[in-house]
Amino acid sequence: MTGSGSGHEVRGEPTPEAVLGPLEAAALAAIRGARSSDELAAAAADALGRRSTLAEEQRRLAGRPPAARPIWGRALQEVRARLEGAVAAATALLEEAERQRRLAADRLDLTEVLPAPTAGHLHVVTQTLQVLEDVFLGMGFAIAEGPEVEDDWHNFTALNTPPGHPARDAQDSFYLDVEPAGSMLLRTQTSPVQIRLMESSPLPIYAVVPGRVYRRDTADASHLPSFHQLEGLVVDRGIGFPDLAGTIETFTTAYFGPGVRSRLRPGFFPFTEPSAEFDITCTVCGGEGCRTCRGVGWLEMGGCGLVDPAVFELVGIDPEIWSGFAFGFGLDRLAAMRWGIPDVRLLMENDVRFLAQF
Ligand code: DAH
Repeated sequence: MTGSGSGHEVRGEPTPEAVLGPLEAAALAAIRGARSSDELAAAAADALGRRSTLAEEQRRLAGRPPAARPIWGRALQEVRARLEGAVAAATALLEEAERQRRLAADRLDLTEVLPAPTAGHLHVVTQTLQVLEDVFLGMGFAIAEGPEVEDDWHNFTALNTPPGHPARDAQDSFYLDVEPAGSMLLRTQTSPVQIRLMESSPLPIYAVVPGRVYRRDTADASHLPSFHQLEGLVVDRGIGFPDLAGTIETFTTAYFGPGVRSRLRPGFFPFTEPSAEFDITCTVCGGEGCRTCRGVGWLEMGGCGLVDPAVFELVGIDPEIWSGFAFGFGLDRLAAMRWGIPDVRLLMENDVRFLAQF
């Protein structure tokens, strides 16, 4: 007799323990070491599948001596049962670990304190416009609008700026690619709405016209190819320069505050006669003279004048009965002056760090 144990050994035959012991140990290690369900499935197939050593030993059973078959049979069954048990246990462990991972991922931390959502607000140019609209509504003006795509007649010719007029050059225009060439453009100013109002509104007219205008300018600190203007038009009986000067003084004080004054200087615009440019006291130095105002104490704001009788004639209003004034200025520039914004491009860049300051 060799070996020990059950006393059922058959001479010359290896014992089931000697063969199956190491096989079971290796299979158990692989099953328990599996870190994913794929790894586990592979370990289970290696241990129990048709091509496993265990299956091979089962196929060999029939060739063993009859006396050895029952011990081998039982031993094989027991090993198989233990390995199957180990696979089931490992499967349960992996599933539980997987469930914990999913729970952790789905977990809502209700104790986390989120910052209060910040509401947006109107752009500084829109705010500027709204303040001015309120001021003008308070002065009895109506608010009007006109198209951004304009025809040559309204943008230039009816404003006493016929083809070839040098003032057209100063406003490099974006023309539309339509026939006849040069007939339609993106308006270069809000002044064409003056013409539209005079063509279609009953007199008298007291109106302001805000809107976007376009020029073929390269953007720099003080120019944008698209910006905003506010136009004013009054047509009534007996309107003169003092009405114009008073209106400008009133709205500049209302917008900038009582410390800021306005002044008119002679200027030229084709559609006003006489024409003037209007300035306000420098918002940086208060009129002392500084770098912003190049030492003069005043900042240029816009153009104005009494409506040229030639314009009245072009729209069919009798200049013997009616007179009027008009003015126009850039809203972006006005906002920049009010808030000390050094570069108007900031107004277009939509950087919240800039926008949030107003
Ligand atoms: N439209 C002029 C411009 O864009 C500004 C202007 C000047 C408007 C004089 C007016 C005016 O109404 O009377 O440069």
